[in-house]
Amino acid sequence: MKIGVFDSGVGGLSVANAIRAALPMHEIILREDMANLPYGNKTPEQLLGFVVPIFEEMIANDCQIIVVACNTVSTNIIKDLREHFPDTPLIAIEPMVKPAAALTQSKIIAVCATPATLASKRYNDLKQEFAAGVTVLEPDCSDWSYMIEHKQVDEQKIAGRIAEVLAGGADVIVLACTHYHWIEEEITALAAGRAEVLQPEQAIIARMQGVIASIAF
Ligand code: DGL
Repeated sequence: MKIGVFDSGVGGLSVANAIRAALPMHEIILREDMANLPYGNKTPEQLLGFVVPIFEEMIANDCQIIVVACNTVSTNIIKDLREHFPDTPLIAIEPMVKPAAALTQSKIIAVCATPATLASKRYNDLKQEFAAGVTVLEPDCSDWSYMIEHKQVDEQKIAGRIAEVLAGGADVIVLACTHYHWIEEEITALAAGRAEVLQPEQAIIARMQGVIASIAF
């Protein structure tokens, strides 16, 4: 089966790599929108304008499933995209608020995400639904995807943000932007023994297996 994976940039590559490793029998078509990134400072209307033509192209290219490997897109416009493409299953990567809230002992979690994700209704609904009674710290990660995309990672800056949330008592850190996969190792090392770092790749692969099975039969 042909499966499309979409992100604004290198976050999509990390997800595509994980899917290719777990599901090697499927053909993974990766599309990135380098022309318009970063997405994290765009409006939902702008995002829709960027994404619809790319999904049309992937569907015309026989992708039977599209993995929305971009929290910014999923949290802002997934409903619009599902209305636009009712015949193609869209698997959305979203901030792992629910598992983080279930895991925390300190009742403090940190969510690292783009400004557009943090501002979205969907993300705020997730917090309300699953993290009532949990304090959610949202460190300023507004330039992280840009730094990662342009290979200009300022490790001091990232260490500073992680130190902040650890000092604030967070014992779970959610990587809610697929670009952050590329700094996951550093963050995990910084958080070692103090906080667990969650990222969505394995959960997405599990969800994909269900969707693939439902299409195949
Ligand atoms: N990788 C994207 C996400 O998961 C967005 C990065 C960006 O373009 O700002 O939110």
